[in-house]
Amino acid sequence: MSLITPHGGHLVNRRLSPRLRAAALERAAGLPRVTLSNVHLADLLLIATGAYSPLTGFLTRADYQAVVDSMHLSNGLPWSLPITLAVDAETAHSLRHTEEVALTDRDGRIVGLLELAEIFPFDREHEARQVYRTTDAAHPGVARLLAGGDHLLGGDVWLLVEPQWAFPHLPHTPGETRALIVEQGWRSVVGFQTRNPVHRAHEYIQKCALEIVDGLLLHPLVGETKDDDIPAAIRIRSYERLLREYYPAGRTLLAAFPAAMRYAGPREAIHHALVRKNYGCTHFIVGRDHAGVGNYYGTYDAQRIFHEFTPAELGITPLFFEHTFFCRRCGGMASAKTCPHDREHHVTLSGTAVRALLQRGEIPPPEFSRREVVEVLLSQYQAVPSA
Ligand code: ADX
Repeated sequence: MSLITPHGGHLVNRRLSPRLRAAALERAAGLPRVTLSNVHLADLLLIATGAYSPLTGFLTRADYQAVVDSMHLSNGLPWSLPITLAVDAETAHSLRHTEEVALTDRDGRIVGLLELAEIFPFDREHEARQVYRTTDAAHPGVARLLAGGDHLLGGDVWLLVEPQWAFPHLPHTPGETRALIVEQGWRSVVGFQTRNPVHRAHEYIQKCALEIVDGLLLHPLVGETKDDDIPAAIRIRSYERLLREYYPAGRTLLAAFPAAMRYAGPREAIHHALVRKNYGCTHFIVGRDHAGVGNYYGTYDAQRIFHEFTPAELGITPLFFEHTFFCRRCGGMASAKTCPHDREHHVTLSGTAVRALLQRGEIPPPEFSRREVVEVLLSQYQAVPSA
């Protein structure tokens, strides 16, 4: 059975064999070092394991400019988020005669090697405007960008350690996920990105999609998120419970997506779709305000942006869903496309409202969230009140 072709033609592998790794680690010990933030480290792992195929390293200048200004790599392939390694001017200056850099984690452990091809200054405000559509430092993605350095180190990378995944019992790499899809015998797979617990609206759009494809890859993002998002460890337990109780086993796969959230809305929706193609998905769900935060993006901007690309160049089919909710008059999940009733009959809650309820130990209504999911979430806030 043949799976969907990865973006750019093949899965990138920037992991060294154990033998080469030992020699590279020895060499790296004598090289200048750059410490990776959690986001950079996540990007290194995603590049090395092929999740970011066709990228083989942190973007060099031509690719960086093409991505920021035209959402394509310099070879013409779509790519919407700049995957970069930013450092301050002083570090950039100290590396100007360097060909190889040892990349370390925040504990100083060498994790990778950068074949330093280019060092160049970049305009953070321009990137913010292009990628995030705002320069407002209150936007979490913009804040991270502005807090980072103003020079970029571009070049290919090698991963020199075995990745330490947060959830070792779950697949994290495209290779593992693709193998499981083959095992299931699915010819079509819909990917679902989430940074939240799965509520009834999420479940509804997943199951609508599942009516027309063979399998669902529930693919929660488990890298860095905003402080007020629900931690991945709790979410994973809630996904496992929900899948066990409400989804057919032979039709769903749970895998982890070890990336950080950028909250770049439309641009991140394209990125999420391309990366899920690398994980073996043929289809990808984009609902309301995908990867959005605050009021920076229109409800359907993350769907509209797909029309700036041809279906052939993306190579994965987006499935768009309107804002869905439980309608008390319909007695089921619906959207403006399928429900004629007034808003007063609709059960909708914002993420903030749900977190406030949970913090008070209160239960969101069953029309919004399954009781089993709420039980797991409440365990984070200690007490589980009786129904
Ligand atoms: S995201 O930042 O990962 O996009 P979230 O986990 O809330 O946030 O959403 C996961 C997916 O479900 C996204 O495609 C989002 O657009 C979609 N979605 C979330 N809530 C709804 C809803 N009520 N109706 C339709 N789509 C939704």
